[in-house]
Amino acid sequence: MTFNDRVEAYIARIEGVLDHYLPAESVAPTILHQAMRYSALSGGKRIRPLLVYASGEALGVAPDMLDAPAVAIELMHTFSLIHDDLPAMDNDDLRRGRPTAHRAFDEATAILAADAMQPLAFEVLATHPALRDHPAIQVRLIALLADACGSRGMTGGQSMDMTSEGKRLDPAELEHIYRLKTGYLLRASVLSAAYCRADVPLATLHALERFVDALGLAFQVRDDILDIEGTTAETGKTGGSDLASDKATYPHLFGMAEARARADELLKQAMDAIADAGPSYDGLRWAARFIVLRQRA
Ligand code: IPE
Ligand code: IPE
Ligand code: MG
Ligand code: MG
Ligand code: MG
Repeated sequence: MTFNDRVEAYIARIEGVLDHYLPAESVAPTILHQAMRYSALSGGKRIRPLLVYASGEALGVAPDMLDAPAVAIELMHTFSLIHDDLPAMDNDDLRRGRPTAHRAFDEATAILAADAMQPLAFEVLATHPALRDHPAIQVRLIALLADACGSRGMTGGQSMDMTSEGKRLDPAELEHIYRLKTGYLLRASVLSAAYCRADVPLATLHALERFVDALGLAFQVRDDILDIEGTTAETGKTGGSDLASDKATYPHLFGMAEARARADELLKQAMDAIADAGPSYDGLRWAARFIVLRQRA
């Protein structure tokens, strides 16, 4: 099977599990459940679940155990996108080639649909049958996701992203924001797979951390490049949104050539971190190249 086929299979798998956990549109309150399904089942790249499964392949973890963290992380990601698009934040009208949740529904419904995804994510981790007999793993996964999404993780990063609009940050300050708003959820994706086993050697964990920390930064640099030069057909988003809000981004602050060079350098750092690992890491290597070299945003 080619990597493309494997990715298709993982995407179908994650969408099946998401579909299972999201209440049906006919369940009251129907507007809320419609908005949740509209946002979560709208064809994202599913990069975070792919990282969960590819990390699981690298470490020899059974895919069954990975479904819960993959879905929980994708739900948290979807919640962050709904809020990110709101008028009070990035004020975007298009996401994944369709009207953003607050445009397709209304602001209150969008906010509440995102709100409801957070407890659902933790519910999945606490109740998924494949983890039921592994309470120690469940607690670690719950703590990891909470940490990645809280005020010292994604939400904190989003706060810093908002207060940095119009500011001249230096590269270290900008990358600190990237690490929080984007990097931590990718990091949680890789570590979730590792946390499904109790016996992953420390050196392996550290290599995976170095890999995903560089990858997370490269991913956001690439997203910022695509905001400027990707077409709406490619990204499913309105181009130039970052420039319109004077967002602190790599290409905006340091120029396009510098942004490209940094993305290349970070991808190389990521690949170097797992260079000594065997062929079971090939899925992760493929995922890293896909994430950084992609044309879709
Ligand atoms: C968009 O994430 C938000 C960022 C952190 C850059 P993705 O590019 O993974 O969005 P989807 O899920 O594929 O739509
Ligand atoms: C979003 O970064 C990071 C999140 C935590 C959602 P962006 O604001 O650049 O993401 P897009 O470009 O809207 O997808
Ligand atoms: Mg944003
Ligand atoms: Mg945005
Ligand atoms: Mg962006």
